[in-house]
Amino acid sequence: MSKKILVLGAGGNVGRPLVKALIARGESVKAATRSGGGVEGAEGVAFDYADHSTFDAAFADVDRAYVMLPTGYVTISALLLPVVQGLAARGVKIVFQSVFGVDADDSIPYRQVELAVEAAGVPFVILRPNWFADNFHTFWHGGIQQGGISLPAGQGKSSFIDVRDIAESAAAALTRPDFDGQAFNLTGPQALSYAEAATVLGQVIGRPVAYQAIDDASFIATLTAHGVPDEYAHFLASIFHPVREGWTAPVSNAVLTLTGHPARSLQTYALDHAACWTA
Ligand SMILES: NC(=O)c1ccc[n+]([C@@H]2O[C@H](COP(=O)([O-])OP(=O)(O)OC[C@H]3O[C@@H](n4cnc5c(N)ncnc54)[C@H](OP(=O)(O)O)[C@@H]3O)[C@@H](O)[C@H]2O)c1
Repeated sequence: MSKKILVLGAGGNVGRPLVKALIARGESVKAATRSGGGVEGAEGVAFDYADHSTFDAAFADVDRAYVMLPTGYVTISALLLPVVQGLAARGVKIVFQSVFGVDADDSIPYRQVELAVEAAGVPFVILRPNWFADNFHTFWHGGIQQGGISLPAGQGKSSFIDVRDIAESAAAALTRPDFDGQAFNLTGPQALSYAEAATVLGQVIGRPVAYQAIDDASFIATLTAHGVPDEYAHFLASIFHPVREGWTAPVSNAVLTLTGHPARSLQTYALDHAACWTA
């Protein structure tokens, strides 16, 4: 008889729809956050990547786990490797949310964690989502409300993915054995530049959204002025380099493979979230 599924970052952008998708499949879910406050339909458990004394309670009675690192952390290997080791020691299947493109270089911290997952000796699936469409109503929301987005993305294109498609892909990977041992590059159905994405958003919202390509220094200055720690601001600037180079433009059919339905377009994402910008 199957045990529970542990979801890390359960109250987050991916975690919340993932918990919902797993509950809809009849699974018993442990939703891990620092507060331990439950996510609807799931058992809440207090967990902190940085506090190993929280691991035993979170990992108990679990046979599958969704492992990810929330936004805002730069010590990726230091926080994730003990989690991978602790789950593997208990024979828990790991579905790891990595990042699109990290398999290009084994020295990248997220790739280091992928390699540890592959070597852990337990069933695993690696998911590498591209840039989230949902950033437009989270990180870039304030800019859009003021008329535009300023990013160091140049004219590079990205195949933005809706977090609902990440969550549904993850639910499939957690509940079916046939994807085990594989890695999937999760993308939306089309590569768009930020200028093109801004046009799509503007059409849905009913007012123009501008895109301005800026340099790293201006981006970092804006972030730090809004309270983002300097180290994280530099990290965020660095991850736009692959965008400018066109490395985030490839489109995959992995969402279709995992979920049985095509990935949602940016327009569908924008229509479904229009109230975020118009309310
Ligand atoms: N945004 C993108 O475009 C993009 C693209 C590709 C990959 N990614 C990757 O996706 C990940 C972020 O996913 P997401 O946006 O779904 O995450 P998220 O929304 O930032 O996750 C927030 C969740 O994590 C919990 N949390 C925060 N700090 C915690 C801690 N120290 N210990 C335990 N739980 C903690 C929060 O609950 P509490 O606050 O209650 O603890 C909340 O439930 C990152 O690894 C990022 O690199 C992002």
